[in-house]
Amino acid sequence: MTTLIPAPFPLSRPRRLRRDDFSRRLVAEHALTPNDLIYPVFVVEGKQQRVAVPSMPGVERLSLDQLLPVAERCVALGVPVLALFPSIEARLKDNTGSEAHNPEGLIPTVVRALKQRFPELGVLTDVALDPYTSHGQDGVLDSTGYILNDETVKLLVQQALVHAEAGVDIVAPSDMMDGRIGAVRQALEQHGHIHTRIMAYSAKYASAFYGPFRDAVGSAANLGKSNKKVYQMDPANGDEALREVAADLAEGADMVMVKPGMPYLDVLRRVKDTFRVPTFAYQVSGEYAMLQAAFANGWLDRDAAMMEALLAFKRAGADGILTYFALDAAAKLTGK
Ligand code: PBG
Repeated sequence: MTTLIPAPFPLSRPRRLRRDDFSRRLVAEHALTPNDLIYPVFVVEGKQQRVAVPSMPGVERLSLDQLLPVAERCVALGVPVLALFPSIEARLKDNTGSEAHNPEGLIPTVVRALKQRFPELGVLTDVALDPYTSHGQDGVLDSTGYILNDETVKLLVQQALVHAEAGVDIVAPSDMMDGRIGAVRQALEQHGHIHTRIMAYSAKYASAFYGPFRDAVGSAANLGKSNKKVYQMDPANGDEALREVAADLAEGADMVMVKPGMPYLDVLRRVKDTFRVPTFAYQVSGEYAMLQAAFANGWLDRDAAMMEALLAFKRAGADGILTYFALDAAAKLTGK
């Protein structure tokens, strides 16, 4: 006879399923795979260039010859997309960012080379003027310094067309001008680029977490003390994100994005639940810098914190994540 344990018993014991690795794996609701990752890289002119970004340990600005092995590594690890961001020489920057739509410029050149060498690797380009303007804003300014909308959209359309001509797979307008998705989509269709996908930075906030990125593309010093609050979203707002996403989808976006990532998981979840479309999160430079700083101090376990942060995006509704950890995470997932 077994001895009976006296009541009361817990009515449910959720810990049963947590007890062993096999049952934890069996009931896991979400998983991260290399297919979920987009790897953002910074590119520079020249040859044999690897320029460190001090506020982003482990991230370097690479010339094309140095980027090719990185692209090869993406293919080997199964990371589907490489996202390109330019670091433009100061002498090429002007008030309207005219280098942004130079067909022989850095980004179109890199796109052509990548698509030629690695046709199976998806290439994404950012459509925005800030790496190209002498003032570091994403648009054209009027005499008071206000960022003009419709004038800027015309330039973004030119930039997107130049990228599409070069063979890019995905254009990602990150500027937050009104009506830019519709304008870019119309222009792509008119020029026969019916396959070019648009990933809209739909809910992009005026965030303090972009600081290290602005160091990397060299816009931080030009921007100085000014900010982007007259076009990027107010971190106080959630409903507005849904209106932005609705507008971008109506204008022809194939995929939408919420940015930054970790402080905006609530927005990500609402966007996914409301629209049920391919939805992406950008774990931005500041999030990467925070984690790297903690790793460097031994305050967080590197692999565990990296993988947890990325899995959390999946749980919150992301179909994919733009992350500077993409290669490290994919290497961990594949053992390669
Ligand atoms: C450019 C752009 C920014 C980022 C992506 N595209 C910076 C900004 O809007 O100031 C930020 C990415 C990051 O911080 O990792 N418009």
